[in-house]
Amino acid sequence: MTPIVEILPDKTALIERALEVVVIQMRAAIADRGLCTIALAGGGTPKPLYAAIAQQDLPWDKIHIFWGDERYVPSDHPDSNEGMARAAWLSHVPIPAENIYPVPTTAESPAVSAAQYEQTLRAFFKPTSDKNPSLDIILLGIGDDAHTASLFPHTEALNVRDRLVTVGDKDGQPRITLTVPLINQGRAVIFLAAGANKQGALTQIFAPEADAQTYPARLIQPQGELWWLVDAAAGKPLASYVNLDTKSGH
Ligand code: 6PG
Repeated sequence: MTPIVEILPDKTALIERALEVVVIQMRAAIADRGLCTIALAGGGTPKPLYAAIAQQDLPWDKIHIFWGDERYVPSDHPDSNEGMARAAWLSHVPIPAENIYPVPTTAESPAVSAAQYEQTLRAFFKPTSDKNPSLDIILLGIGDDAHTASLFPHTEALNVRDRLVTVGDKDGQPRITLTVPLINQGRAVIFLAAGANKQGALTQIFAPEADAQTYPARLIQPQGELWWLVDAAAGKPLASYVNLDTKSGH
């Protein structure tokens, strides 16, 4: 599907637009299927988005929270994506505890954690044998090396096709990450990128030809909607990709 590309004037406008898009997707999923499943991104970019979502009046009992990736640290560690999302959003809304599915990071090994999270997803979605489950919303960021989730350049995780969850590797540090096939099954995959330091990655991700092993976000080609919400500082290389028909979306 052709990506929906929107370049917002600044980070504040980016977060406002991301909130709008996410809430619309949440309400549509709930209207269509009675619930919404969303996988959260880590890092710094989505934190203000999570704080803004927490201010919304949403049917929290119908919203189910997963993570697109997680650092291999306890949830009370400052690097924990779960910890960040709980502090910014989940601790401030009456979402049932059982609707939150954090990545286990205290198993005996990252591989065991990945297998456990895979079981969690399979138990929830009950996928048929030949089809990966579809999350309604998958939020993603990109690194300045064009990684996304914990799919880092030239790592084995990029090529895992027979699982939903695998072990990522960031400079030798283990991560737990959804796999490319699972992300590409998402109904709405929404990338957020802000800051001039993301320009190089975006140039390579959108280039007609570039090596996906070097620029892993190129592997994200979902069947469903693909959104790129970027601020002007990051989005200079994308000016020619902006879909004019969506500019009116403000
Ligand atoms: C993580 C993220 C990672 C992040 C990018 C961008 O666990 O860190 O999932 O993929 O989205 O590294 O991070 P920033 O938003 O901080 O630039």
